[in-house]
Formats: sequence, structure tokens, C-alpha cells
Amino acid sequence: MSFPRRRESADNKSSVKSQIPAYAGMTDYKHTPMTYRQAIAEAAQKLKTAGLANSVLEAQALLALATRRDLAAILTHPECELPAKLRPRWNFLLKLRTRRVPLALLAGHKEFFALDFQINRWTLVPRPATETLIEIALKIRPTPAAVVDIGTGCGCIAISLLKKWPHAAGYATDISKNALKVAQTNARAHQVSKRLKFFAGSLLAPLKNVVKNGDLKNNWILTANLPYLNSLERDYYEKNCPELLHEPSRALYAKKNGLQLYFRLLRQVAQLKNPPRAILLEISPEQTREIKNFSQHIWPRAVISCQPDLAGQARVLEIILYKPKKLALPETRK
Ligand SMILES: C[S@@+](CC[C@H](N)C(=O)[O-])C[C@H]1O[C@@H](n2cnc3c(N)ncnc32)[C@H](O)[C@@H]1O
Repeated sequence: MSFPRRRESADNKSSVKSQIPAYAGMTDYKHTPMTYRQAIAEAAQKLKTAGLANSVLEAQALLALATRRDLAAILTHPECELPAKLRPRWNFLLKLRTRRVPLALLAGHKEFFALDFQINRWTLVPRPATETLIEIALKIRPTPAAVVDIGTGCGCIAISLLKKWPHAAGYATDISKNALKVAQTNARAHQVSKRLKFFAGSLLAPLKNVVKNGDLKNNWILTANLPYLNSLERDYYEKNCPELLHEPSRALYAKKNGLQLYFRLLRQVAQLKNPPRAILLEISPEQTREIKNFSQHIWPRAVISCQPDLAGQARVLEIILYKPKKLALPETRK
């Protein structure tokens, strides 16, 4: 069965999960009994041949997904038989994984910053490196009153920040309406939907009215994890990481050494009468100098630094445009 082509459609439910065949669960074909141990060993071999590192761990995780059981339960009872009715589902998931469909996409969700996010083929799978951006944002003092997240995808950045800032408002944009539907579902699941508004469109353009109406006062920050892989090197990336073939290409690639959208966004921010206090952008380490120089050229007095992720790679460009004026303290009687 071929994996569904990436094509924007109104059907937001078209996740990989929904591609699991209707006959999954039926027992109308002959098979020899198979224990969990055998299933894992056989799958690990197939996954290894498909080029996956950690093929045993992958096979275990895949079996947990196929059986909807805890990994611990599977590992403590490897002698259990894989129920016949689950064999078609198991075979189907294994086939998709050997075709390098990401495990998170098969599961339909992914953990990010200790929260669970629904994802599908219209959204990027949130990456652990992006948690660095959250950690840097959370150090900003005083706490911002609002966050604007550009290219929100499944909403993981905006939602994680709003969970930590219970009094803040959020505004999130994405060019993909299908991704925004997923983000809205996630916002509801994490009970921030009343404080987080979504806008479809490119970069800051859909927020024109928010900016004009003065909804964003002066204590706000801008976050973005926009596509930053160099579109000229797409073949190289896909060869080395075939999982990328199953994620939306417009969530991954950009022109101008991957920086085109960031250049545009920063130019737009420079036009604002009421700019953010800080801008946090996720980048690729080799882009550091180019984007830093560009930002410093626009804001010569800004404090600009590049922060590393847990692997020690430069990952987040932080642009501090200004410190907010001292908060007015309530008058005290003498
Ligand atoms: C790298 S993904 C990041 C998604 C999410 N922020 C995360 O960290 O997992 C980039 C996102 O930017 C969106 N995007 C691409 N071009 C855009 C544009 N011109 N304006 C707004 N969003 C855009 C894509 O649809 C995608 O959801």
C-alpha cells in the first residue's frame, strides 16, 4: 500500500493513523503463532535492513503501538502471543515504518515539553531541540504579557509557553490551515484555547489588526520555528533522513540558505511601531553568523546572542530589543 501523497485538503483527519486498513482487527487469514519476542526480533531485522539505527528499540516501540500496551508490559512478558486479530495492524505499522514514516506520525501524537501534542501529516513532528527555545523564553523577566508564535504547526511552542504563563495571551499564525486545525485541537486539550488566537496566513501579515488595535502592548515576545533547511540541499537531507519525506515540505525548506522566511519576518518586525521585547528564532548552527549579522544590521543596539541546545549546537537566536520600563509600583502612604 503506498503512503498517501502530501496534498492539502479540507480533510484534517487524514492522519497516517486513519490509513490503517479497515480490515485491521479481522482474523481472516492464516498465520503461525508469534510471541512478542519473536515479533520484536523479526521486526528489528526488517527495520535494520530499512536503514534504521536502534532497530530493536524501534521494534519494541512499534509493538507497543500496535498492541496499545505499555512498553513495560511487553518487555516483562515477551512470551505473550501477539493476538491474531492484531496481526494485520502490526504488519501494516511495520510496513510503514520500514518505509520510514516517523513513529510519532504513526502514533498520531508526540510529547513536547512534558505535554502531549496531537500531530498529523500537515504538521511537523515537534523536535526535542525546540524545547531549548521554550527554556530560553521562560527565563525572560518580567514575564511577557503576550507571545506571538509564527509558523505554529501543532502549536507546541505557543501552548507550552501559555501553560507556564497563566496570565499571558497568545497569537499564533501558520500558512497551513490544516496545521492550524491541529493546533486548535491541542489548545483545547491543554485548556489554553481562550487565551490563544490562531490566524491563517504568511508571517506577520494576518496579525495586522491585532497590531493596529494595540492588542499587543509593549510587553510581548515573538517566537518562530520557521522552515530553515536549505531548499537547495533537499535531496541530501531526504537521503540521510528519509523520514523527512513524510513531513510537509513547506514546514522544512526555505530558500536563501534556509533563511528567506526569517529575513522576511525580521524586516516585517522592523516596521512595527510597537516591536516585541525579544525575538526568539530556532535556527541551524551553520546559519548563526548570517542571521546574527542581518539582525544586528537592522537593530544595531539590540543584544543578540545564540543559545545552544542540549547537544551543544547553536540553536536559538535571541534578539533582545529592549528591557521594559520599570513596572510602576503602587503608591505607598507615608
Ligand atoms: C518547522 S515547522 C515548525 C512547527 C512548530 N512551530 C514546531 O516547532 O514544531 C514550520 C511551520 O511554519 C509554517 N510556515 C511555513 N511558511 C510559513 C509562512 N510564510 N508563514 C507562516 N507559517 C509558515 C509551516 O506550515 C510549519 O507549520
